[in-house]
Amino acid sequence: MNIIKTVQELRAFREPLWLEGKTLSFVPTMGALHEGHLKLVEEGQKSADICLPYIFLNPTQFAEGEDLDAYPKTLDEDVARLESLGVTHLYAPTVEEVYPSGFQIVRVSSPDQPLEGEYRPHFFDGVCTVVLKMLMQCSPDIALFGEKDFQQLQVIKDMVKELNIPVEVKAVETVRDDNGLALSSRNQYLSEDEYQIAIYLNQILKQMVANQISEDEAIKSLLDKGFGKVDYCTYRNSDTFLPDDPNRVLAAAWIGTTRLIDNMAMVE
Ligand code: PAF
Repeated sequence: MNIIKTVQELRAFREPLWLEGKTLSFVPTMGALHEGHLKLVEEGQKSADICLPYIFLNPTQFAEGEDLDAYPKTLDEDVARLESLGVTHLYAPTVEEVYPSGFQIVRVSSPDQPLEGEYRPHFFDGVCTVVLKMLMQCSPDIALFGEKDFQQLQVIKDMVKELNIPVEVKAVETVRDDNGLALSSRNQYLSEDEYQIAIYLNQILKQMVANQISEDEAIKSLLDKGFGKVDYCTYRNSDTFLPDDPNRVLAAAWIGTTRLIDNMAMVE
């Protein structure tokens, strides 16, 4: 595996691809790769001549007191998993390389964003800053993001459109385990008992999708099953994230110190 660490190396990798007429897909991740990430890479490999995954634990999308320090770091395993898919290059820059002067560039007016914007007001500015930097650094033809972070996906699509960034943003379906739990690097925080609680999140969303229960009932069920706190569990529109014209259910809920998010399209 050729691990690219600097913007200069990245450009040296990128530029010849233009001359050779080869397309590039880009898969941004924060590492601790699971099957959901690997699915993004597989889709990236199908969508372009070369797929470049990226691993960077982006500090600007974590607020004080969140899990930046605890976030799992498994670079050796990540590299092995990528190699097993035939990936030859990985972009894994350092914090100093990405933020040489600590600059925060993008403001997304996060507090105006409902749901995640309300509960994690710093989050979208951090995500958009780092994603914009990466897109500028490697100019991919296609960038792939998972639907599990559905609001993040929409905010990135909006940024790409508003800033006329010449990249196609491709959404990839959420990958779930056998019990329906959406795969997430944060699932590693869960004890066995907590895992047994976590699997109810997807079951409640399924019940909501089938329109069997109200938001209040859904929240009560989650709390009854053992979730400590529910930030939201709600029917929303997938473009505005407001309650009008709902076509998706979205939830964020806590088990101990672990925050899980999930979402599902409503049946037409
Ligand atoms: O979804 C993630 O893993 C991160 O938010 C992303 C898109 C890699 C930006 O740091």
